[in-house]
Amino acid sequence: MREPVITEWNDDQRGEFRKSVVSARHRLHRDEAFSDDALAELIDRHPRELCDFCTMGDDPTDRESWRAGDPGALDGHTLLDAVKAGKLWINLREAMTIDPVYALLHKRLFSQLKALNPGYDPLRTYGGILISSPKAQVFYHADVSETLLLHVRGHKRIRIYPPHQPWLKAQSMESILHHRQTEDMPFQTGWDQDAATFDLKPGDMVAWPLHAPHRVENIDGLNVSVTCEVVTQDSLLKNAVLHANGALRQMGWVPRSTSTQGLQVYTKLMISKIWKVWTRYMVAQSKAMPKSERTFDIDPNEVEGFKNRELA
Ligand SMILES: [Fe+2]
Repeated sequence: MREPVITEWNDDQRGEFRKSVVSARHRLHRDEAFSDDALAELIDRHPRELCDFCTMGDDPTDRESWRAGDPGALDGHTLLDAVKAGKLWINLREAMTIDPVYALLHKRLFSQLKALNPGYDPLRTYGGILISSPKAQVFYHADVSETLLLHVRGHKRIRIYPPHQPWLKAQSMESILHHRQTEDMPFQTGWDQDAATFDLKPGDMVAWPLHAPHRVENIDGLNVSVTCEVVTQDSLLKNAVLHANGALRQMGWVPRSTSTQGLQVYTKLMISKIWKVWTRYMVAQSKAMPKSERTFDIDPNEVEGFKNRELA
């Protein structure tokens, strides 16, 4: 595809980009790369260690119901059929950045975003492809990078909440950055009234400010979306300050500021660096991962597209 990926970007969108929630239009849904055949081939060739196969319950506050499963030797087309009919969620991590077919689109998207937004200069970008069932959901969470979502197939509702108290506790981001918790966070359904809510159809895209919590509920159809994680100078600085605050808290201090302005930031950058070096040598680091134990096998003959494994 030689045409620009984004098909709508005006002065308002440029002005609000990364400062608040911005929606726009793109044209990936018209690209053959997202047809059933192309996606099935991608599933077959993408490294399996970069693929997550999950399911979840219906209650948006029950993040414990999120669990991982095993695709076995099923091929891409069979897995797509199981997702269409069942309650499954597949994440092809980094597909947009490492797969030659999709990396071209990813590259084109970010060169266009840079051209459309003077001064926008990501240090690193990663992109994945999510393929999920008509009634799948993703629980309330906040990402450590800046995020963009380009919706390609099906319909889904995304709710984006303000990136501060009570929706986001500074201590939650500190714990995520210290790998003491996953990106999932406690959620109250009453917060939905405070969210920016979008019902996404193919060709819609949304971008939101760093650390803004969000959750997604699919509405109908096989859902396919592209998610991009973007590391910028701003996200590095903010994460370093929060990481330093988390380190100070573990040393018994009560950090009062999460500001990225002023002289105290240099001290915090140093604290964050020293803490990382110290923990690398002194503490066996283990990232808090979503439950990785596989508790089901994908099975297109089952109603929800999977069969639970017998408990040992
Ligand atoms: Fe996210």
